[in-house]
Amino acid sequence: MEDAVQPHGCERQEKAAAESLPLANEEFQPSELGTKQYWDRAYERELQFFHDSGDVGDIWFGEESMDRQITWLESQKIPKDTALLDIGTGNGVFLIELAKAGFTNLTGIDDSSSAVKFAKAIAEKEEVLSLKLQVADFLHPFPNLSQYEICVDKGTFDVISLSPDHPAERQNFYRQSLHRVLKNGGLFLITSCNWTKEELVNHFREGFEMLQELPTPKFQFGGKSGNSVTVLVFKRKE
Ligand SMILES: C[S@@+](CC[C@H](N)C(=O)[O-])C[C@H]1O[C@@H](n2cnc3c(N)ncnc32)[C@H](O)[C@@H]1O
Repeated sequence: MEDAVQPHGCERQEKAAAESLPLANEEFQPSELGTKQYWDRAYERELQFFHDSGDVGDIWFGEESMDRQITWLESQKIPKDTALLDIGTGNGVFLIELAKAGFTNLTGIDDSSSAVKFAKAIAEKEEVLSLKLQVADFLHPFPNLSQYEICVDKGTFDVISLSPDHPAERQNFYRQSLHRVLKNGGLFLITSCNWTKEELVNHFREGFEMLQELPTPKFQFGGKSGNSVTVLVFKRKE
């Protein structure tokens, strides 16, 4: 398996690797990555850099991770007009790649308005004009009830878990929102570097069942490799 360097965001795993401890033994420490201010500033900077250089910024967990998920969705023969929501879409590149793969009913939300501005600018440059991109906080009552057949999350539950402000409560709100927006039987694909598979299965046990774990690339922290990203597919239950 190839190595991909993950620059930031996997702070719990990074600490566990530095201490040679299993991830599950490591406490979640609050981090600025768990704040809206951090992402507003980060995407404001990235948008400026994009205008100057055309660079789309970080591909969270690397391109392979994104490609594998798209390949998996295609292998499931999921109809291309399936309603899909990207939770915390950031630069929107995952949705742009899904659109290039032929998916036509794609929505991305992010509570950072600069992320949505950035995603719109990239989509426009890539001439992907079909995306629905909205500023919305996933943790607050989200109006689109039972609207989506697929929800994807690449790194958003991870950063919500690093919030300095009531992280456990926010993790529970996340699960409740997910249950509200996903249709019964709908799929949830989560990519995480801060949670173990067992922890994710336990957190989402109420209302969801795990269907499958997808293979992922390894990545490095300060020269140490062997740490991995977890990608799980859940199905929404009644
Ligand atoms: C680690 S980044 C990942 C971005 C994107 N999914 C990707 O793969 O590049 C986490 C994203 O989650 C967004 N986010 C954090 N909390 C959120 C919330 N409550 N509602 C919506 N988006 C949120 C952040 O603004 C940021 O864009």
